[in-house]
Amino acid sequence: MNKNIRLACANELPQIAFLDRRVNKTSWGMIQYEECLVNKNHKIYVLEINHDICGFVVIAVNFDEVEILQLGIDAKYQNQGLATFLLTEVLSRLDKQYIIGKVFLEVTINNFPAIALYKKMGFTQISTRKDYYIIGSDKFDALIMMLDYAKS
Ligand SMILES: CC(C)(COP(=O)(O)OP(=O)(O)OC[C@H]1O[C@@H](n2cnc3c(N)ncnc32)[C@H](O)[C@@H]1OP(=O)(O)O)[C@@H](O)C(=O)NCCC(=O)NCCS
Repeated sequence: MNKNIRLACANELPQIAFLDRRVNKTSWGMIQYEECLVNKNHKIYVLEINHDICGFVVIAVNFDEVEILQLGIDAKYQNQGLATFLLTEVLSRLDKQYIIGKVFLEVTINNFPAIALYKKMGFTQISTRKDYYIIGSDKFDALIMMLDYAKS
């Protein structure tokens, strides 16, 4: 398996948004992706397997704080360690550039695979946002999780 992680190009945004829609219940629209590309604090990384984009992560960097804004792995590649690989590698690259202190993220309270992934990576829950996500006609709390990267 030939794996490669790199920053996304503008012409790949429709493909990333399409992948996001397929895997995420709280997916982003094209406008959000386009805004990310022009925001110098935001970075979109893709994970390629044999030159096909099979995963992505959107990151915001604010001095030494990093926020994971969006993440997805194509269903046929899930449960093969790829999200772990993508996040570990991206955080390591960012750490070389910014010396990361803390990493934050929000996740829907019932997204058990993602919560398990983050806990395995060392994230802990620090807070909850009540009814933060609206999916269809249902409201779900968001868990706010943090990784003390500098101490990990
Ligand atoms: C969450 C997601 C990114 C995980 O990607 P992945 O490549 O399958 O994750 P990994 O293979 O690296 O798994 C790492 C750990 O996560 C947990 N995990 C992953 N998938 C899981 C599942 N279906 N059920 C329970 N735990 C799961 C496990 O702890 C796993 O470690 P293990 O294999 O040693 O048990 C992927 O399921 C996905 O894209 N989901 C839809 C989008 C999404 O929820 N994004 C996150 C929004 S906050």
